[in-house]
Amino acid sequence: MKVLGIVGSLRKNSYNMMLFKNAQSLAPEYMKIELFERLGEFPLFNQDLESDLPEVVRDFKRRIREADALLFVTPEYNYSVPGVLKNAIDWASRPYNDNVFDGKVAGIMSASIGMIGGERAQLHLRQIFTFLNITAVNRPEVIITFASKRFDEKGVLLDDDAKKFIKEHLENLASLAKSLRKINSVVEES
Ligand SMILES: Cc1cc2nc3c(=O)[nH]c(=O)nc-3n(C[C@H](O)[C@H](O)[C@H](O)COP(=O)(O)O)c2cc1C
Repeated sequence: MKVLGIVGSLRKNSYNMMLFKNAQSLAPEYMKIELFERLGEFPLFNQDLESDLPEVVRDFKRRIREADALLFVTPEYNYSVPGVLKNAIDWASRPYNDNVFDGKVAGIMSASIGMIGGERAQLHLRQIFTFLNITAVNRPEVIITFASKRFDEKGVLLDDDAKKFIKEHLENLASLAKSLRKINSVVEES
């Protein structure tokens, strides 16, 4: 099972990138999680350009198409998702009849230095998913609060409960992907 990871922080010592890397190493053996490394290369979205998409956008869309599932790991900025992430999502959803997210499944994780852990960004992301037609894993929620205290100097998560939730979230992502695939094949046959 191939999962494409999308991390909403460009910061060098990002806690969300640390969280993503922990998820990569905690993934079940049948799952490979790759990172889309080019989120910082996107130009600002401009609808005038969507009939001839920039190369980085075409690359992003190809990687999403090839993936069995997506994993969004994002900070919360001002109670929402970072502009960098929203910009990339907007590009990949266009043009109107070629929304690459249509029918995809996704996991969501967040880390924040605050006590809410990015929950409001997760809720905004779920709202965006509704229009994109992405089905998201509901539980367990993976929310890393007080992130500056949760990782060791190598970026390894210190919290065993959080590790357990990450594993379960990824297993549920795999089950969701399989269930949707089954439903889609039954619908196609009928
Ligand atoms: C522009 C901006 C807005 C922020 N807004 C929030 C917020 O609404 N809620 C929150 O919990 N943390 C907020 N933070 C703090 C982030 O949780 C913190 O910077 C975190 O380390 C960002 O994730 P990263 O380490 O992956 O870059 C904000 C940070 C920035 C730079």
